[in-house]
Amino acid sequence: MNLERTVHIDAEDNSALTRREARQPQQDGETFSMAQALISSRQNVSPKRLVEPGPSAEQLEALLSLAAAAPDHGLLMPWRFILVAAGQRQHLAEVFALALIDRDPGATLEQIESAREKAHRAPLLLVAIACLGLREPNTPPLERMVSMGAAIQNLLLGAHAMGFGAGLTSGQAMASSRLHDLCGLAEGEAAVCCVNIGTVNKRKSATRARPLPAAFLSELSIGTVAGGLQ
Ligand SMILES: Cc1cc2nc3c(=O)[nH]c(=O)nc-3n(C[C@H](O)[C@H](O)[C@H](O)COP(=O)(O)O)c2cc1C
Repeated sequence: MNLERTVHIDAEDNSALTRREARQPQQDGETFSMAQALISSRQNVSPKRLVEPGPSAEQLEALLSLAAAAPDHGLLMPWRFILVAAGQRQHLAEVFALALIDRDPGATLEQIESAREKAHRAPLLLVAIACLGLREPNTPPLERMVSMGAAIQNLLLGAHAMGFGAGLTSGQAMASSRLHDLCGLAEGEAAVCCVNIGTVNKRKSATRARPLPAAFLSELSIGTVAGGLQ
């Protein structure tokens, strides 16, 4: 998929083409078709299926620039990412193992090893951190999480557009004080999930069936909506 031409066209705000297209939203336009193809073909790829090579330093920079394009009410940048480079993975592995033992002292050696191994799978691993503490302007945590989710989605879509696979992993270790300490989280910050990116060695056959709009869209109709105004 070549998004370059589209980006180039959009960047040239003076071109007649851009001005004409900007005035007329088009479902059949080339840009929409590309966005549709990109977004609908994205699928979560388990880190087990991600191998080298991962994104280069340049590609990572480009991906992070996409994250920076997330909507951000109050321009708080209520999220950040921590890159866990190969040389640091053993520390994350240890935290995953100890977090498991903390919540299940009877965990088997196999379970502990499996927890440890999760830190080593993907070529590129970022820990996504939400910054939810009090700041000015006081944008509520829910709104900040929307921005965090958008930043993550931009990363996932960007990686997918580059031809990489990407997947999210979370689990109870995210809330562990050991992980908080390892990541040096400030008050009000929370580790949300890991963003794993790499080359796909085995792809799932098809993306999952997505819910139809009717499943999540309703029309406001006062007096008939459950829990709404009567
Ligand atoms: C915040 C967050 C955390 C996630 N954590 C995990 C996880 O720990 N393990 C996992 O297999 N998938 C995880 N996922 C990915 C979802 O399982 C995946 O998005 C879902 O199955 C839908 O598949 P799709 O992304 O291919 O449409 C997570 C997704 C989100 C948004």
